[in-house]
Amino acid sequence: MKFYHIFILRQQLIFDFLPFYHYTVSMATIYSITNQKGGVGKTTTCLCLGSALAEKGYRVLLIDFDPQAGLTVCLGFDPDCFPTTIYDVIINSEQYPLQKIITDTRVLNLKIAPANLDLAGAEGELIGEIGWDRNLRDAINPIKNEFDFIFIDCPPSLGVLTTNALISAHTVIVPVQTEFLALRGLKQLGDIIAKVKKKGNPSLRKRILRTMHDVRTLHSKEVVEELERIFPDEIFKTIIKRTVKFADASLAGVPILLYAKSSEAAEAYRHLAEEVIEDAKETVS
Ligand SMILES: Nc1ncnc2c1ncn2[C@@H]1O[C@H](COP(=O)(O)OP(=O)(O)O)[C@@H](O)[C@H]1O
Ligand SMILES: [Mg+2]
Repeated sequence: MKFYHIFILRQQLIFDFLPFYHYTVSMATIYSITNQKGGVGKTTTCLCLGSALAEKGYRVLLIDFDPQAGLTVCLGFDPDCFPTTIYDVIINSEQYPLQKIITDTRVLNLKIAPANLDLAGAEGELIGEIGWDRNLRDAINPIKNEFDFIFIDCPPSLGVLTTNALISAHTVIVPVQTEFLALRGLKQLGDIIAKVKKKGNPSLRKRILRTMHDVRTLHSKEVVEELERIFPDEIFKTIIKRTVKFADASLAGVPILLYAKSSEAAEAYRHLAEEVIEDAKETVS
């Protein structure tokens, strides 16, 4: 066999394994799930969207970035059982690299960086530091080739933690309840996003997700249309309806995609996952 035969054979092998090759070296698309209003479905979206992508075979990391640790709890963990959490990582990522705290979950391909109440102290500790808004981004950087998608579950505030999440993300997903009062905080959130784009993350994109939609009320339907009018190019087509199944799944400590596999709610998050896969392609290109 001549040298160029070996060369051609080698090229052929690389070509044959190209999808796998691409899969292992691709960089994660990072999403911050953000809204300063509590109870709008941030944690639920993080968990269900992450599970839907994991179910499709993508490698997904969920970062619990809320001191209330709802995401950690919803995956069946006791937040106080972790010796180190995301708090240690963002305070001192050299001593506590993100890699060290990442934990497997009951869902295949889905991992979590857990949080607990310690994280509440981070706001005060970081604020005086130089580059306080970049700590999470720097912590994610070394591991971003190991995942296809990373979702950051923000707290219900617009402080240090949320700013860190927005600086780290390619896209911010804003879950909005389909109620008039839910529209009120969007202006303030829009201002923060604009500031982050100007100061540190110019390519940050925004997508609106309509959640907890009550199909029985006319008022809900009007808000659905109003959001479409205000954000024509930034809105997900999928609408998440209101159902008690989410609360039942949280109690069981498993995502709805496992708890009620073929429910309408699980299917809605699978549809959303398809939209997010398309969004990620646009982010990369
Ligand atoms: N589409 C939905 N329909 C009904 N209940 C929901 C829905 N999405 C979330 N929930 C429930 O509402 C509560 C708040 O949701 P959560 O995701 O924790 O909001 P956030 O993280 O924004 O505070 C939880 O008990 C959750 O189970
Ligand atoms: Mg939450």
